[in-house]
Amino acid sequence: MIIAIDGPAASGKGTIAKRVAAHYGLAYLDTGTLYRAVARDTLARSRDPADADEALNSAKALDPSTLGDPGLRKPGLAEAASLVAKHPEVREELLAYQRSFARAKSGAVLDGRDIGTVICPDADVKLFVTATPEERARRRYLELKQAGIEVSEAEVQCDIRRRDERDKHRAAAPLRRAPDAHLLDTTNFDIDAAFKAAIDLIDAALARAGHAG
Ligand code: DC
Repeated sequence: MIIAIDGPAASGKGTIAKRVAAHYGLAYLDTGTLYRAVARDTLARSRDPADADEALNSAKALDPSTLGDPGLRKPGLAEAASLVAKHPEVREELLAYQRSFARAKSGAVLDGRDIGTVICPDADVKLFVTATPEERARRRYLELKQAGIEVSEAEVQCDIRRRDERDKHRAAAPLRRAPDAHLLDTTNFDIDAAFKAAIDLIDAALARAGHAG
């Protein structure tokens, strides 16, 4: 069974995806870490993430054993990750790893921007998780504050909007809801309510498709 979860930054999709994977006993891949790792390796060589050849070199040399690096979640890498993710050749290079992860063993949950549209268009269930830009900025701001990172909520909102615009309007695999993805708006939900809403949508979709559960 493959569950595809897409959505914009700080929509709650990562937390939901992780809990959904644990609930159904599936493997979990946060595909954002792939682009973040390519950005990390490009910057580590003092190269420009906007340079397609440099980003492709990092994607080709990517060592999947480094994907657990906690440094990948650093807010400073988000912008560079969005820049490397614009290059079609980088996306193409990362495709096989994501597809083979999805097909492994008992199934998987993948979250990202193009899982339901490009990586796993035949996923058993697709969710598109979203929330208003204001709410997403508020959540990211609180997360950063808790991590001791000083930044204003307005700055966070500006960064999120810029990144979403780039992710939505790029030519290669833009962020968009697959026509058959279930919309989950988490604006008024805390994480437990969002997780429950996700499980309800998935269970209903599986029942309709005749899955055993
Ligand atoms: O989910 P995240 O914030 O870790 O993602 C960082 C960037 O990576 C995001 O701005 C766009 C890119 N990305 C992508 O283009 N496709 C994916 N499947 C996942 C992430």
